[in-house]
Amino acid sequence: MSKCWVVIAAGGSGKRMKRTVPKQYLEISGKTVIEHVMGVFLAHKIISGVVVVTAVDDSRWQKLAPSHPKFLGRVEGGVERSDSVLNGLNALSPHVGPDDWVLVHDAARPCISKELIDRLTKKVMRHPIGGILGLPITDTIKETDHNGGIIKTVSRESMWLAQTPQMFRLQTLRGALNDLNQRGVKVTDEAAAMEFLGMRPLIVEGSETNLKITTPADLPLAEYFLEGQAKEFQQPEKRAVFATKRTKKTESEVIKKTSPKAGRRLMKRPKFLGSE
Ligand code: C5P
Repeated sequence: MSKCWVVIAAGGSGKRMKRTVPKQYLEISGKTVIEHVMGVFLAHKIISGVVVVTAVDDSRWQKLAPSHPKFLGRVEGGVERSDSVLNGLNALSPHVGPDDWVLVHDAARPCISKELIDRLTKKVMRHPIGGILGLPITDTIKETDHNGGIIKTVSRESMWLAQTPQMFRLQTLRGALNDLNQRGVKVTDEAAAMEFLGMRPLIVEGSETNLKITTPADLPLAEYFLEGQAKEFQQPEKRAVFATKRTKKTESEVIKKTSPKAGRRLMKRPKFLGSE
């Protein structure tokens, strides 16, 4: 059966937050945004491995690198989000099967849940191209000129807001992003790369809770959603991922103790992924 891998895109500077700390390192309910994200993917049994992409000059990441057999390492990001994602895919590429899937997720969406991952993977695994989470647009949409004058009202029928995760066959997505790179075409999400090449990915209804932290006003909202999720169902596995870090055990010590099989897998990990 095809495996599922994850690239967490955390290479942005978050200028719109008007803060010096990039949004993935802001704290919500006692954990950073990126820790919430990593916890959900690492704890999900469908996921085989997770790579995190951070900015080249990122000084905050090291303290947060989780000790978990499924955390494969960090790679450096690029100028655009698509460059960062491509670096993550390139890092995973030699080690995945030809039909394996990848879920690309924004590090700035901390309220991703097991339920949303289940919903996406169940639908997309039966689809020939791949798919993404999205939200149907309920507001009326206006197109404006550069002075803010309304040119026209765009029909909201069949309009969606794209969310992440975005799930595609890893090698197909990698090929698509490489192709667009060579043509100098910029895309803001993975689905756009596939669309550009004539493919028609599936959209699966996501949730308002899966918001992207973009401005300071999003933080209390994310906190509210996360606390709601925590009340709804306790996630002991999620805490365990980070508890191992607090005990200051090394990654291999923890793995050998908890899972000798995973320990052997760790030894086989490629060098670029094993260093952090
Ligand atoms: O800028 P935007 O909000 O669209 O970023 C979405 C996600 O992509 C964020 O998690 C951000 O860290 C990531 N990103 C990246 N590399 C870039 C720019 C953004 O990984 N060069």
